[in-house]
Amino acid sequence: MRTVKLDLDHAPYDILIARNLLDSVDRITALLPQKRVAIVTNETVAPLYLEPLQDALEAAGVQVEAVVLPDGERFKTWETLNLIFDALLAARAERKTTLIALGGGVIGDMTGFAAAVYQRGVPFIQIPTTLLAQVDSSVGGKTAINHPLGKNMIGAFYQPQLVLADLATLDTLPARELSAGLAEVIKYGLIDDLAFFEWLEANIDALVARDTDALAYAVERSCQNKARIVAADEKEHGQRALLNLGHTFGHAIEAGLGYGAWLHGEAVAAGMVLAAHASHALGQISDDDLARIIRLIEKAGLPVVSPALGFERYLDLMAQDKKVDAGKIKFILLRNLGASYIGELPVAVIQAALTAGCAPA
Ligand code: NAD
Ligand code: GLY
Repeated sequence: MRTVKLDLDHAPYDILIARNLLDSVDRITALLPQKRVAIVTNETVAPLYLEPLQDALEAAGVQVEAVVLPDGERFKTWETLNLIFDALLAARAERKTTLIALGGGVIGDMTGFAAAVYQRGVPFIQIPTTLLAQVDSSVGGKTAINHPLGKNMIGAFYQPQLVLADLATLDTLPARELSAGLAEVIKYGLIDDLAFFEWLEANIDALVARDTDALAYAVERSCQNKARIVAADEKEHGQRALLNLGHTFGHAIEAGLGYGAWLHGEAVAAGMVLAAHASHALGQISDDDLARIIRLIEKAGLPVVSPALGFERYLDLMAQDKKVDAGKIKFILLRNLGASYIGELPVAVIQAALTAGCAPA
């Protein structure tokens, strides 16, 4: 078992990483203020992992409601969120009933938001079952739903009490989803961990082949990086924004193509390449650095060329980003490989990056 601690003053919690955590529920039951939980999952994950978790909890004397939602980013909406509230209210779930998110980032973000607002806040545990959710979305307390005009625009900061990352659940993850998770793993190397970037260059084939030790190390190191940044800046007043490398461009790709057309991790990957092109155009990273970034992302099975939405459309979509401040779009840029900062870009550099990194119109 690998344990990463998120040392928030007001709400510290553990991220536990190991295979086969789902049927040993002692760590969950130890936290419950009442012997009652609602497991929120979706119709893909439920047939795979709901039963062992539910059985183990019931064997420990816990009353379990299961809420099974439709699957997909396009369902990360008010309407689907309301299905959680409908189920909680119909079951008379109480203020001490714990919500458990069992699934990927979509389920984790929606369940977290539901936990933040149901009866003004109920306890919440994350059981992430995608690589992306294990290395990123289950950690740090960002919860949200999408709006047709912008990604993750409606939500709350609300921390879980525990994160259980069961690596065995990754066995059933489609290859495309595994690659999507690797985008966020590569992000940690690029923003401030050169040694991890170099480790990823050496181990990317093992990760794509789902080597157990390589995956365990990548999840642990990613969570350590995220926990350090979140502990220093929980509500994103400063350095937490670095975790958005590639996301200003990436969210524009997701919204511009329609949510779900590209996976979040795919859009982030292509967005990181655009951010690298911009950093290269500014003269901050070398030709060789740019080539290394593109090579690693490509070897992870991810897109390195962005869709041709058009310059004006990209600008329009990026103007909806949550980092926009007094009308100015903020980007996460690379000063070097493994060193990033938050900055603005001249329009000509945005244009140069899009020209270099987008498919021909
Ligand atoms: P997802 O939740 O849509 O899951 C991907 C797919 O894999 C889904 O079809 C899901 O049902 C399926 N799945 C999940 N676990 C599986 C398993 N073990 N075996 C087989 N199939 C499985 O997508 P995701 O990539 O996990 O998360 C993306 C979401 O996370 C986006 O909405 C993004 O905005 C959000 N996100 C949030 C944060 C945060 O800090 N809160 C960070 C990064 C991303
Ligand atoms: N995924 C970005 C963050 O948690 O801040």
